[in-house]
Amino acid sequence: MNVNNFRFTLGGKEFVPIVIGGMGVNISTSELALSAERLGGIGHISDAEVMQVCDQIFGTTYTSDKRQRYASNFNNPDKSSVQFDLEQLAEAQKRFVDYTMSRKTGNGAIFMNCMEKLTMNNSAATLKVRLEAALNAGIDGITLAAGLNLRTLDLISDHERFRDVKLGIIISSVRALSIFLKRAIRLERLPDYIVVEGPLAGGHLGFSLDDWQSQSLQTIVAETIAFLKKENLDIPVIPAGGIFTGTDAVEYLQMGASAVQVATRFTIAQESGLPDKVKQHYINAQPEDVEVNTASTTGYPMRMLKQSPTLQYGIKPNCEGLGYLLDNSGKCPYIDDYYQALESRDPAEGRFVVKNHTCLCTGMARYDCWTCGQTVSRLKETTNRLPDGTWQLPTAEEIFNDYLLSENHSISKPAIEKEQ
Ligand SMILES: Cc1cc2nc3c(=O)[nH]c(=O)nc-3n(C[C@H](O)[C@H](O)[C@H](O)COP(=O)(O)O)c2cc1C
Repeated sequence: MNVNNFRFTLGGKEFVPIVIGGMGVNISTSELALSAERLGGIGHISDAEVMQVCDQIFGTTYTSDKRQRYASNFNNPDKSSVQFDLEQLAEAQKRFVDYTMSRKTGNGAIFMNCMEKLTMNNSAATLKVRLEAALNAGIDGITLAAGLNLRTLDLISDHERFRDVKLGIIISSVRALSIFLKRAIRLERLPDYIVVEGPLAGGHLGFSLDDWQSQSLQTIVAETIAFLKKENLDIPVIPAGGIFTGTDAVEYLQMGASAVQVATRFTIAQESGLPDKVKQHYINAQPEDVEVNTASTTGYPMRMLKQSPTLQYGIKPNCEGLGYLLDNSGKCPYIDDYYQALESRDPAEGRFVVKNHTCLCTGMARYDCWTCGQTVSRLKETTNRLPDGTWQLPTAEEIFNDYLLSENHSISKPAIEKEQ
């Protein structure tokens, strides 16, 4: 029995039941998402820091223009005046989604991971623009992430694609799901799928720092399936977090899940946006290198490698150029921590490290925040060590097919290439 014995039916269409999860900032690149799409599965792009991502891909200058527009504010801890230009935001989002959708060649689908926690100093307006622009550019589906998303559906309820686009929600408890569903039922717009993200996932976690260790994905998935049955709701459930082999996936599919969402194994794919050097750090990671900490300014615990350069930041807040995590009054905990550290630093020492929080916008933009799932230390089981001591980077297709065809927890390594 392998994953290929199952199919995921969504909106009358059949998919291979493998979803590559969204990994911001541009770790789940268009190319990575398109690999899943080409193989009949579902790939996510992420709209985290989309203007910065456009600058990287298309050579636009959204970030530097914004930085210049607010240059006079650079030394001011009050960032309330630093606003995103909504027209430019819509333009960037449309461009990025167009660029991905226009290159579809397979029978799968491309979804966008859209995080509510990217509050961008104007949460409702910027989220609405991001969602609408993605819909206008023809995205197949949107996965609402990082937040309870209680008001998110309202933002697009009058859009012509509101009822036809696939909409999903990421939850980590039945409680969060039932709160979300109350609003969805009132709008007569139930989610088309539910991603249940457990405690071993990468990125931000929907559990508290003290709580994640006592939680299990299997239990939450079983509770979610039972809850939906009790409520007479037929909505596909997609577990995520720690699903490392195809056999792990089959176990969830056999207990009633419709597909699985995976990410960590794809961080080291040739198509992933992480720089190759960082991919090598991921593969070399040992179990003791992984921690869940509260360095993220979102308020959610986040899993990352302890060696992440972002944990050593003493950089000036970069909100004039980025500012994706400013709350609606222009605040971010990193700003306060930075100015406190600046005041209390020893002037004899030039460099200082800001404790408590990191500048996540910069950390993610520079690939200095090495977020990963708990299974990152097993990546070395999935590939070959090359004669020079580095690791071979598999293609997304090789990883995808390994999930699809693996039996008895076997992992097939990529074919050894002479040169990469
Ligand atoms: C490097 C990395 C970045 C991630 N970024 C995001 C993100 O931006 N938004 C989100 O909702 N989930 C994010 N995730 C979570 C994944 O989409 C996925 O649900 C989860 O990691 C699956 O578990 P696995 O990594 O153990 O396979 C990220 C995961 C990783 C590994």
